[in-house]
Amino acid sequence: MSIRSAKAMKVMVIVGVRPQIIKSAPVLRLLGEDEEVSLQLIHSGQHYDFEMSKVFFNELDLPDPLHNLGIGSGSHATQTAMLMMRTEKIIHELKPDVVMVFGDANTTLGGALAAVKVHVSVCHVEAGLRSYDMSMPEEVNRVLTDHCSQMLCAPTLEAFKNLRKEGMGENNIFLSGDTMYDALLQHEVDIEKSEIVRELGLTGEIYAILTVHRPENVDETERLTKIVSSIVNLKEVKTVFPVHPRTKKRLRNTKLEKALKRATNVILTEPLGYFDMLCLMKNSAVVFTDSGGMQKEAFLLHVPCITLRYNTEWVETVKLGANKLVGAESERILRETRKVLDNKGIKMKLRSLPNPYGDGKASQKIARELKGRFYSGKLVVKAGGAVHFNV
Ligand code: UD1
Repeated sequence: MSIRSAKAMKVMVIVGVRPQIIKSAPVLRLLGEDEEVSLQLIHSGQHYDFEMSKVFFNELDLPDPLHNLGIGSGSHATQTAMLMMRTEKIIHELKPDVVMVFGDANTTLGGALAAVKVHVSVCHVEAGLRSYDMSMPEEVNRVLTDHCSQMLCAPTLEAFKNLRKEGMGENNIFLSGDTMYDALLQHEVDIEKSEIVRELGLTGEIYAILTVHRPENVDETERLTKIVSSIVNLKEVKTVFPVHPRTKKRLRNTKLEKALKRATNVILTEPLGYFDMLCLMKNSAVVFTDSGGMQKEAFLLHVPCITLRYNTEWVETVKLGANKLVGAESERILRETRKVLDNKGIKMKLRSLPNPYGDGKASQKIARELKGRFYSGKLVVKAGGAVHFNV
């Protein structure tokens, strides 16, 4: 009998939103191939459209999930509560030894809470990031998930330090590096092969990319109007705007959709797959975004980023001068963009910056550490607390 069928560690990985599929892919591949691990992949169903989920499973060659919990859209409480209820049921059925969650979505928190409450250890990948803005649902999800997890994989030294500052025991934290960097390196060739730049008629052109989906930008018409008008007024370059479903709905309900369709310098697209998005980013002059992952990917691809937020959890990108926080102020967006476009040597400069996201082997380290901790009996939810407070 193989080790896998006898006493392999049962790892339940719960994913459900677009960026989680990308950042979990390198870890899923390793765990799936490991004889000492029995992988139980669960999809929460938070993202359900083909372009928001299945396309990434196909591109990244991931196995079909064992179950889709089908939580779909809804309020934060609805999504989180449904996820807890359905995860609890599936935990009772599949009896995992550890539940692994990624990032900061409602899927992350719901999965972690359901697990720890039935005394199944939680491993949080991308732990310790902080924007220190509790009005963002992602910050609430990050903090609470970290505080109920038994193994915290910090992508950066800054994240590691944040966890220490919050009193997490040194034994629970692990500086892993960032799995999104692993994914990017593993797919360099696929990214290179993408035809998207040619398909959009942008070969040899200087162009920008915009993505915006955060509730604070999208659900407030005033802010969304300012962002859209900046892009429409940036006549000197074309801007490609792949529209997130949440944003699409909001644009449709305002006059902004018409304004964007009329603008000859804006190219609207459906949400793009991973390879196309990274290829488009790599060849762009500047990225406008309110996404966390894209700030980091722009940095890793040496493209200047203008972030449509007032804070960020990816603080290194700002400290190193690769990312500017401009909020939703039209004047600032245009001013900072023009500075970037005028700075011809900027990409060379960004190329020379140190990389705070590890060595591209974060997923190997996580898989190795997870097994080490489990097989030495260290990965347990125990009385006295998983988190050892220093005070
Ligand atoms: C979620 C995450 C966010 C992450 C983002 C990546 C939370 C709190 N937010 O935000 O951290 O950056 O995913 O994209 O978990 N919709 C569709 N089809 C889909 C998915 C969503 O049409 O496949 C629409 C629904 O109308 C839904 C809206 O988009 O109401 C928002 O989706 P939701 O999953 O609630 O949050 P995101 O904004 O995608």
